[in-house]
Amino acid sequence: MMWLTRLVDRILYRCWQFKQVLFPIIDPELWLEALDFAPANWRPHLKRLRRSERAHVLRVFAAIKVEADLENVDRQKLLLLALAHDIGKGVTRHSIFFKVAKVIFPISNSAHCLAGAKLLRRLKAEKWLIRMVLRHHCQSPTNPLLKRFQEVDDRL
Ligand SMILES: [Fe+2]
Ligand SMILES: [Fe+2]
Repeated sequence: MMWLTRLVDRILYRCWQFKQVLFPIIDPELWLEALDFAPANWRPHLKRLRRSERAHVLRVFAAIKVEADLENVDRQKLLLLALAHDIGKGVTRHSIFFKVAKVIFPISNSAHCLAGAKLLRRLKAEKWLIRMVLRHHCQSPTNPLLKRFQEVDDRL
């Protein structure tokens, strides 16, 4: 019956994803905190994200804040990555229909990784961060910190 539990879990997760895309919840206080944490030249680009994208970024940001067993330097890095990782979505700008379709079909979304990395290079972000943004959807990352990040990003 393991397969049935897994199937039910997947269906529930997809339903949850639909809800997050169609009815995103943004905590205004957390949003201000995130904007404050981000370098000033990122802010206009973060504000350009769709509500559902901002809500996702904030869920990842909040989860990294309380992630267990993380050195402080690594936590600071991952908090920056949480804010920056999907910043390219403000450039690629997919419609709400695309976002809903992406919940159902295996559509590639790597365009925002490249767009984000290019944008961050233009904004003079640090190299390690640009590299992580570029690779944040890569299947088997060699960097353990990026792997750690993916575990949070993939479930939120
Ligand atoms: Fe992403
Ligand atoms: Fe993400």
